[in-house]
Amino acid sequence: MASSASARVALYPGTFDPITNGHVDIIQRGAVLFDRIVVAILVNPAKSPLFTVDERLEMAQEVFKSQPGVEVETFEGLLVEYARRRKASVIVRGLRAVSDFEYEMQMALMNRHLSSTIETVLMMPAESYTYLSSRLVKEVFALGGSVRGLVPAMVETRLAEKAGVGSGLRV
Ligand code: PNS
Repeated sequence: MASSASARVALYPGTFDPITNGHVDIIQRGAVLFDRIVVAILVNPAKSPLFTVDERLEMAQEVFKSQPGVEVETFEGLLVEYARRRKASVIVRGLRAVSDFEYEMQMALMNRHLSSTIETVLMMPAESYTYLSSRLVKEVFALGGSVRGLVPAMVETRLAEKAGVGSGLRV
């Protein structure tokens, strides 16, 4: 690994509500390419996620607890400012299908407009995850379908716990 001054740090930002095996797949691929990959969970008070930001942080930290090259943090505000603070030169995003492309391109170019030194790298997940999204995982689970193999086992447990709490699981 490069010294900490020259280490190539990549951010993998997102909502991660919850983290899926598609996210895990991209993070593992990123971990091969970069010295460090920081999973950056957006704190967005405007959204009403199923899992609190602390729950999302805890789940992702649990998944990568024995991988020193992967860190998990939360961030608020502009991604490029956070990248600057973390001395990250790369933003990694997953591209599942052509339908993702427009949104990703727009974000990548806006981020480049805001900070010309940060590059966005779009990575393709394994084919078996190209249809997977956090939104669909929550919907399928809430309607009684199986999400086995689509999310880490601990996330499945946390979904079940949510479903058991009071008002039940929202999608
Ligand atoms: O998982 P998501 O919801 O597609 O992730 C979107 C995310 C968090 C990457 C994006 O909303 C973001 O970077 N938000 C931070 C605010 C910001 O910097 N906005 C301008 C960048 S286009």
